[in-house]
Amino acid sequence: METIKTDVVIVGAGGAGLSAAIAVAEQSPELKIALISKVYPMRSHTVAAEGGAAGVIKPDDSMDDHFHDTVAGGDWLCDQDAVDLFIEQAPLELTRLEHWGCPWSREKNGKVAVRPFGGMKNERTWFAADKSGFHILHTLFQTSIKYPSIKRYDEYYSTDLIVSEGRCQGVTAIEMRTGLMQLFQARSVIIAAGGAGWMFPFTTNGAIKTADGMAMAYRAGVPLKDMEFVQYHPTGLPGTGILLTEGCRGEGGILVNKDGYRYLQDYELGPPDPWPRKKAMELGPRDRLSQAFWHEQQKGRTVSSRWGDVIHLDMRHLGEKKINEKLPLVRDLASSYVGADPVHELVPVRPVVHYMMGGIHTDIDAATPLPGLYAAGECACVSINGANRLGSNSLTELLVFGRRAGKHAAEHARSNPNSSDSEISQKGTEARQRVTDLFLREDSGENITDLRKGMNETLEAGAGIYRTQDSLQETCNTIDELRQRYTKVHLGDKSNVFNTNLIYTMEVGSMLEAAHAMAYSALNRTESRGSHQRLDHPDRDDEKFLKHSLAYYQGEGSPRLDYLDVVITRSQPGQRVYGGGEK
Ligand code: FUM
Repeated sequence: METIKTDVVIVGAGGAGLSAAIAVAEQSPELKIALISKVYPMRSHTVAAEGGAAGVIKPDDSMDDHFHDTVAGGDWLCDQDAVDLFIEQAPLELTRLEHWGCPWSREKNGKVAVRPFGGMKNERTWFAADKSGFHILHTLFQTSIKYPSIKRYDEYYSTDLIVSEGRCQGVTAIEMRTGLMQLFQARSVIIAAGGAGWMFPFTTNGAIKTADGMAMAYRAGVPLKDMEFVQYHPTGLPGTGILLTEGCRGEGGILVNKDGYRYLQDYELGPPDPWPRKKAMELGPRDRLSQAFWHEQQKGRTVSSRWGDVIHLDMRHLGEKKINEKLPLVRDLASSYVGADPVHELVPVRPVVHYMMGGIHTDIDAATPLPGLYAAGECACVSINGANRLGSNSLTELLVFGRRAGKHAAEHARSNPNSSDSEISQKGTEARQRVTDLFLREDSGENITDLRKGMNETLEAGAGIYRTQDSLQETCNTIDELRQRYTKVHLGDKSNVFNTNLIYTMEVGSMLEAAHAMAYSALNRTESRGSHQRLDHPDRDDEKFLKHSLAYYQGEGSPRLDYLDVVITRSQPGQRVYGGGEK
């Protein structure tokens, strides 16, 4: 196996990975960086983000408001020191992108425009029409290529972390073009490999979001934090799950049920509004809006469609000019995928799995408990999102904590030499064996597609918008069984060149590990908080559960669960209150 010696290796070249790489290159040009990605960087899932990135910029907004919106939105499970750091850095990072060429949409006077987003009291979401992710990713990518110290390894699938002498010192990866396994030996490793939406059957996520980074860290002994918190976005296109941005509602779109009734007025999206504003309605937080859909469905007030039950997003009153200017991609997507032009027609939508609040446990410096290993972006849990992320905080999170991961990984690399080459290469050989074993298996065995389908179905049925003890127990049992069956999985294609069957098999293996951590963490959290809603435990229980859950990998057994206090600095848990933003 070839060994590539570098200083910092980064797994994932989306928004967080590129931010980290640029930060290392800027601060420590002498360090060699290997940027590994299973896709070409511009195909990373950041590209699919639509609505925008949050950061205080307008005079009528404040850091305090951004802090309190984020903490209340997260149902007080956010670490408040991390949130403070995040909101302070947010405008700086967004301005830095502006200087690197990001074409933020403008007001008539030339100033950066912001739009309202769910759960935010004030307008603070910077946007580039409804292609914000594309423009952010493009800006980062074009900036990264000016640094000679960043060497890219596109279309390499990372399989395992190399841990030697108690430190993370590299990664093994398959070069997909040849099938050859490579060992990347490094002094620091950053995982920025994105989320895990494909564990579920219906998601806004690209097919590449398969928990690879989470599973690598988990298997190496790093806990996965708060995995039970899974965000459903209220407005996905039925059939495909493609996102229709919250920007649709930020610009004034409304949700109506089968009677054309604006049903959100019937739901408590929070206690009576203390601000002199109107009810939050469509700009309530995502967890509450997705739950409201479920209740409408129970009452038989959703619309039956050829894709199943939906509700309608009405944007007709916004007019063609505004839709073309602010939401051109939405118009295109809705017309192409459900045949509804939002200028003239109601658009069917329904909740769809969008984001994992949980992930690799890190501290405020993006450091994991494993020395030398850092994580940032959706695969990580720092935690600024708590039990429910507010829309548009995550693009900014990529920038703030990607940069921070780069800074701290570079410092670590400068002060820590590698262990002996022979020990690292021995670990690499062991990692390669895990892949080779798949090739050596019998020609009959478990079918990987069946296993994935089983995982998708049990998560949606048992760990969806609402959960119970029974549903979660059944999901845990099913995932236990699927993990067992995975040990007998059969690789249909044994070739080397672009073996997508192999990659798919490895991805399903990663997702089963993350799903295992998720199901058991959810079973054990006997309260309702943010996106984790238990019909059998409908109340929040701060006494017992104002804590992060930590799931530790135990090989074949169930994960070991532990709990960690939430960092509370200046906002004591209270009721979630939403107002403002309604047009
Ligand atoms: O609706 C959206 O545009 C999604 C934004 C986000 O998840 O932050």
